[in-house]
Amino acid sequence: MSSRPDEAGKLSLTELAELKRRGRPIVMVTAYDYPTGRLADVAGIDVVLVGDSAAMTVLGHDSTLPATMDELIMLARATVRGARRPLVVGDMPFGSFQVSDEEAVRNGVRFVKTAGVDAVKVEGAGPTLGRVRALVGAGIPVMGHVGLTPQSATMLGGFRAQGRTAERARNLLDDALALEAAGCFSVVLEAIPAPVATRITEALDVPTIGIGSGGGCDGQVLVLHDLLGLYEGRAPRFVKRYTELADTIQAALSRYAGEVRAGVFPDETHTYAIPEEELAAFEATLSLPRAGSARQA
Ligand code: KIV
Repeated sequence: MSSRPDEAGKLSLTELAELKRRGRPIVMVTAYDYPTGRLADVAGIDVVLVGDSAAMTVLGHDSTLPATMDELIMLARATVRGARRPLVVGDMPFGSFQVSDEEAVRNGVRFVKTAGVDAVKVEGAGPTLGRVRALVGAGIPVMGHVGLTPQSATMLGGFRAQGRTAERARNLLDDALALEAAGCFSVVLEAIPAPVATRITEALDVPTIGIGSGGGCDGQVLVLHDLLGLYEGRAPRFVKRYTELADTIQAALSRYAGEVRAGVFPDETHTYAIPEEELAAFEATLSLPRAGSARQA
């Protein structure tokens, strides 16, 4: 089996599981609209997450908490149009699955039917396990997420690494195993010490996707705006910036503004021609009364 689907095909859950068995690292990134979904697809990304990080990266909030289902559905619909081959996962925002199994399924169904995502992601274990079972029971593939779960960052004592004592590391392993048993096809491990994440990865049959959890996971995910250098603010230590796109965009915008103000842009290469006789005929009409404005004598 090839590591990528055929030209038209979408990466399936079976192929994703196969990547773990073969030891081929899984590449996941967030995307939030058509162009970034398209770029991720062309770059050969395996899994695209329409993350609730959109609340911060795209919508300008200070945390992920304000993201709504309506906002994520709108972003996911656009992303799905661009990301044809990657598996597209819609992130269930805060409040969309916490209240009841029924609400979790209703919102999961909306994500799949209205936005066209292939799967959803939910944060946490404990009470989330029942939601996972309900979603999977409704036929919706679910990705779990343990460790630093931003939707409950306040409860976790802030944005800090998780599982740094033997007891807490064991709890994380148990949570990940419970998510797998509840039916998750994959589990995100966020901000967990690398040796702990490696042990969790070895214990699970389903693939783990790490973020700030070392190279022993079955795959890696980064927030697009972090890796592209497009997000202001301080990035967590696990972020690697692969480019500084904000600088590139700012320089281009400043050049554009400068050229418009200096009358350098647009020049004749950016405009359309009209035959001279047509222009002359048009100009001759300028002294005539306007059509429709009947002159009063
Ligand atoms: O919302 C998000 O971008 C995420 C990733 C950090 C895993 O949940």
